[in-house]
Amino acid sequence: MKGIILAGGSATRLYPLSKAISKQIMPVYDKPMIYYPLSALMMAGIREVLIISTPRDLPMFEELLGDGSRIGMTLKYKVQLVPNGLAQAFVLGKEFLNGEPGCLILGDNMFYGQHFGRMLKEAVESVQHGGACIFGYEVADPRAYGVVEFEEKHTDGKEAELIVKSLEEKPAEPKSNYAVPGLYFYDNTVCDKAAALKPSARGEYEITDLNKLYLAEGTLRVKLFSRGFAWLDTGNCDSLLDAGNFIATIQNRQGFYVSCIEEIAWKNGWITTEQLAALGKEMKTAYGRYLERLASH
Ligand code: G1P
Repeated sequence: MKGIILAGGSATRLYPLSKAISKQIMPVYDKPMIYYPLSALMMAGIREVLIISTPRDLPMFEELLGDGSRIGMTLKYKVQLVPNGLAQAFVLGKEFLNGEPGCLILGDNMFYGQHFGRMLKEAVESVQHGGACIFGYEVADPRAYGVVEFEEKHTDGKEAELIVKSLEEKPAEPKSNYAVPGLYFYDNTVCDKAAALKPSARGEYEITDLNKLYLAEGTLRVKLFSRGFAWLDTGNCDSLLDAGNFIATIQNRQGFYVSCIEEIAWKNGWITTEQLAALGKEMKTAYGRYLERLASH
């Protein structure tokens, strides 16, 4: 499976911070924001990734991450000229996906919690047989998100299966408190489905409309993140600061880094211990020392 990170947009809610640089390159504590969604794809076992951004910002991502070979990956880049909706990722990414299934993650979505790796791998597995897999996360106020309504179907002795009843984009009166995070897994029909979409009332090709096509087809699955799980928002200055503090708290308490792409590449067997040590040596920071420490253990 291949992955796409959508890191475009103008992030006007962060002005003046984001006036001259991309939001997704900004620091979340000790690393650029895009490291977090990139690490989620890596944990899903996805090694080939397309990064989509604006003409202004794309060169900066290329400078940051290069062709990906340093972390054993293949990274490609594509410009989105007009920020006209998330579903466009699969129009722009058609050639890259080349008829294969694809996972889309938004460049400002951060996930942290137990069993995340397992859930990602299950999602990859589930769409290999067709359909789509999205996630649900309970929030106090879901009005700013895609909202999923579902019912549980109990089958004896098995984990309850979740049946999606409805999906709505930013509803004024949400039918549930389950927001849909910016992480979506699709089968190989996704590019054709995305190409057939019409713009919504706000003039965007909505990811929710793409998901609704799978819902109508009866092939949309939803998995829920539990209450202890963190799906962090980085939409405004306060939530950006909170996200940074959250990462600092976890990292400093446990001594493990969150979303350290070099560590994940090494654990996935994509780079050797020697390569990991060399990457650490290049950085005169605690981050660099962490990589060297991992390599020496
Ligand atoms: C987008 C999607 C929405 C989703 C959200 C997750 O919203 O349209 O369905 O819940 O990302 O971050 P936007 O960031 O465009 O407001």
